Amino acid sequence: MIVTIDGPAGAGKSSAARSLAKKLGFRFLDTGAMYRSVTLEAARRKIAWEDSESLAQILEGLDLQVTDDRVLINGEDATEAIRTFDITTHTRYVADNLAIRQWMVRRQREIAAQDNFVTEGRDQATVVFPDAECKIYLTATDEVRAERRYQDLLSRGEQVTLAEVLEKQQQRDQRDRQRQFGGLCKAADSIEVSTDGLAPEEVLQKLEKIVASCRQV
Ligand code: C5P
Repeated sequence: MIVTIDGPAGAGKSSAARSLAKKLGFRFLDTGAMYRSVTLEAARRKIAWEDSESLAQILEGLDLQVTDDRVLINGEDATEAIRTFDITTHTRYVADNLAIRQWMVRRQREIAAQDNFVTEGRDQATVVFPDAECKIYLTATDEVRAERRYQDLLSRGEQVTLAEVLEKQQQRDQRDRQRQFGGLCKAADSIEVSTDGLAPEEVLQKLEKIVASCRQV
């Protein structure tokens, strides 16, 4: 079984998807981590952000392992390094790259074919797994999402202001929605859940109920 969770940045997808997968005994796939990893690799190789061909060439021979809780790039643990503000801001160049998106879609399908999965991203229900048995679209207001990101970045020791995080988030949302291929949008058969004002356990309970109802169909 595949459960997809899509939605904008900071809606609480990662923690909800991870805890849902644990509860169901499923594996968890963080597809944002895959785009972030290629972005980190591009930054390390000092590739010009506008050079889409060189960006796509990163994939040749790239050993990218995204497990339930760790990200390994060519065997090196990059779990923390892919989450900086800088990498977050530049991920759009990788996410806009059609060759990279096609590679990601293939790779994500290969991974999910191995087991039951909860996958999380922007295009999971619409492009990657249009036949998924259960599709969830997680949202929250701009302010709630920015506050979450801000607290997350502070806890990682980054020097940012809430206003800066909100502004970048709005730019990222707009780009994620306008992307020609794999842009963020709610699939017609996705069930929308707002996480505003809900504790993580309450979100988990809602998601479990949705999965249970999808299983009965
Ligand atoms: O979910 P996360 O914030 O880690 O995603 C980072 C970026 O990767 C998103 O802003 C989006 O541009 C891109 N992304 C994507 N498709 C996905 C997952 C992430 O384009 N399935």
